[in-house]
Amino acid sequence: MALERTFSIIKPDATRRNLTGKINAMLEDAGLRIVAQKRAQLTKAQAEGFYAVHKERPFFNDLVAFMTSGPVVLQVLEGENAVLKNREIMGATNPADAAEGTIRKSFAESIEANSVHGSDSPENAAIEIAYFFSGIEIVG
Ligand code: TYD
Repeated sequence: MALERTFSIIKPDATRRNLTGKINAMLEDAGLRIVAQKRAQLTKAQAEGFYAVHKERPFFNDLVAFMTSGPVVLQVLEGENAVLKNREIMGATNPADAAEGTIRKSFAESIEANSVHGSDSPENAAIEIAYFFSGIEIVG
């Protein structure tokens, strides 16, 4: 299969606990390559735009507040089947349901403060990568 790219965020609960390196090691050990990475403090407008698909959900305002509560690490990951592979490494949205050995099982604090974001389809990956990165910032 051809190389695929996905978009990942290390969320504020994880940067606050200095877990960026441990999470990156789990991604790399699973065969994903970090081909772009930058630390950022999201604005309210950026977080609202990124999660616009959820804007009618009851958790939307809390989610935006959480995602702007501290630094995040924005990443592009590359590998075979990268979208699905990253979703497997992340584990279920709710850490209570996440499998052993996944990032969320290992580190997430709650369904909201769940340590990582990962695109759920190649189509969304392309949209999310373009939301935060220009082509010149991605070096495969
Ligand atoms: P979702 O796209 O359903 O999950 P995933 O991140 O696994 O793709 O939801 C996006 C984020 O919204 C999720 O990571 C955390 C937050 N969220 C809540 O805070 N409460 C909830 O009940 C749900 C479903 C999500």
